[in-house]
Amino acid sequence: MAIIISGKEVSANVRAEVKAACEQLRTKGITPGLAVIIVGDDPASRVYVNNKKKACADVGFVSEEYALPAETTQEELLALIDTLNRKPEINGILCQLPLPKHLDEKAVINAISPLKDVDAFHPSNVGRIMIGDYHFLPCTPAGVMELIHSAGIDVSGKSCVVIGRSNIVGKPMAMLLLHENGTVTICHSRTRNLKELCSSADILVAAVGRPKFVKADMVKEGAVVLDVGINRDENGKLCGDVDFAEVEPKASYITPVPGGVGPMTIAMLMKNTLKAAMLQNGID
Ligand code: GUN
Repeated sequence: MAIIISGKEVSANVRAEVKAACEQLRTKGITPGLAVIIVGDDPASRVYVNNKKKACADVGFVSEEYALPAETTQEELLALIDTLNRKPEINGILCQLPLPKHLDEKAVINAISPLKDVDAFHPSNVGRIMIGDYHFLPCTPAGVMELIHSAGIDVSGKSCVVIGRSNIVGKPMAMLLLHENGTVTICHSRTRNLKELCSSADILVAAVGRPKFVKADMVKEGAVVLDVGINRDENGKLCGDVDFAEVEPKASYITPVPGGVGPMTIAMLMKNTLKAAMLQNGID
């Protein structure tokens, strides 16, 4: 029987901290502002953007939504980002991904001022994370670390396996575990001995994007299992990358889906936006 790490609870604590800090900032006449850009009408992106706006209102930030049509040109999108980069009351800029195919995602990420890049996707922020000298951490990996800390788990010296090598989750996740002195392996679709590697992990992070991919025979007895996946199973029910029913009895700690890593992502976005507002106002 594993201990369930509740992202619902931990994210509520993070948001309460951000809210308290925001109230402090307001006594100095500062209200953090987040601009959220969404291009096209992807239903999942719409849900995420609505949740981000709601979280802003809950913690006392101002949010501005820029909903652009799917036919928006690269020039139009870059012009909007340029305007937002210069707008003093906007501290954070987030462009919801994925973008429609005709838009150049890399160029868009590059255009966002690194000081307002609350996703921490800009190459200069990615580089800062590599060398451990950062302002912003990418929201999902930072949320996973917060869950690990909340459970009192020490990463140092542990064997950590991350399944998935995306720029958004897998790669930065590995880096954050390494910063805490974990011995980290990144697995991906070409990894040959996936089952052996995963079942050697003390800490296993699943960020594959495939429903119930991690089975009991891939998990060591007593492992800590963190599930980044948000998928639908064969019955249309929300599920993670981990087969929870199979893996839970073997794990020492496990995150559920929903209510695990998901709510942490938005809480960490609020934390980054607060940090951006403080940095831009000379408060450290
Ligand atoms: N699409 C999926 N996850 C994310 C995220 O964390 N940030 C942005 N901007 N887009 C996403």
